[in-house]
Amino acid sequence: MFFPQFRARRIRGSETFRRMVRETTLSVNDLIYPMFSAFGTEPRKEISSMPGIYQQSIPDIVEEAREVFALGIPAVLLFGIPEAKDAVGSDAYSDTGIIQETIRALKKGVPGLAVITDVCMCEYTDHGHCGIIKDGDVDNDATLELLAKEALSHVKAGADMVAPSDMMDGRVAAIRETLDENGYDAIPIMSYAVKYASGYYGPFREAADSTPQFGDRRSYQMDSGNRLEALREAASDIEEGADIIMVKPGLPYLDILRDLRNEYNMPLAVYNVSGEYSMVKAAAQKGWIDEERVVMETMVGFKRAGADIIITYHAKDVARWLKQ
Ligand code: PBG
Ligand code: ZN
Repeated sequence: MFFPQFRARRIRGSETFRRMVRETTLSVNDLIYPMFSAFGTEPRKEISSMPGIYQQSIPDIVEEAREVFALGIPAVLLFGIPEAKDAVGSDAYSDTGIIQETIRALKKGVPGLAVITDVCMCEYTDHGHCGIIKDGDVDNDATLELLAKEALSHVKAGADMVAPSDMMDGRVAAIRETLDENGYDAIPIMSYAVKYASGYYGPFREAADSTPQFGDRRSYQMDSGNRLEALREAASDIEEGADIIMVKPGLPYLDILRDLRNEYNMPLAVYNVSGEYSMVKAAAQKGWIDEERVVMETMVGFKRAGADIIITYHAKDVARWLKQ
């Protein structure tokens, strides 16, 4: 059918018609809000490259979590910045670690809000890598044991879901096995299945104080040129027992999101990472873009590409804009 029988504009002429034929929609249920917990951060410390995002103390986190819950956002993703770091990231799996204390406070203060924890070593190690170091590189198999211990201690403290972000091979299986052995077979794993080595994590490393002290993460995070490898990574995590799989970063990898949507019938998450947030904030502050419009368009873009869940620092604003 061609012009003049077909006129695409007929169905675009009013907001009512546009609403009726819209293929993709966004809901507050789709959102997860990341938060950074740190000891002794009174008052809240704003991340200089991420306006509106803070390192904050446990009481302040609970207060903000109440606001998050009241906005209807179902879950937060927690990151901890410990008081002291060491070579084996001891605070990550300590019963009285920053994240464990934060989880307990959140579950007590805002019981209806789901608490998901990032499971990784880089915030807790003095060298800033996502596992323990042997011969100048991260030792995969030795790290698995610590990640499983870390996940278990989060769950014991009350975490509703764990999200391993380290990119070690076999970590989903290791975590699943440990959780099951300890009676936590009902706790889901959201795996950072397809995580690329990315410059877009820059602002996060200030937020989580997790910049590697030597080298980079290319020996464990994926190479940005690879698309088929993403399918292999997702397949292995699903095989190992992941309940939700994630693609990260978001905007530069929408094709990967669509590939996974087409290939797997699993819940699919996307992480709209720190650098993506910072760029929008900076341009909006300069008056170069309309922040609300750009953010909402980006969120719908993630949904259209196939995401069920969007992890984003914009979550509170998005929830407010959805309510208008
Ligand atoms: C830790 C982790 C990172 C992010 C989430 N978990 C950083 C990294 O791998 O270097 C990035 C999140 C963001 O940029 O918003 N492994
Ligand atoms: Zn890490």
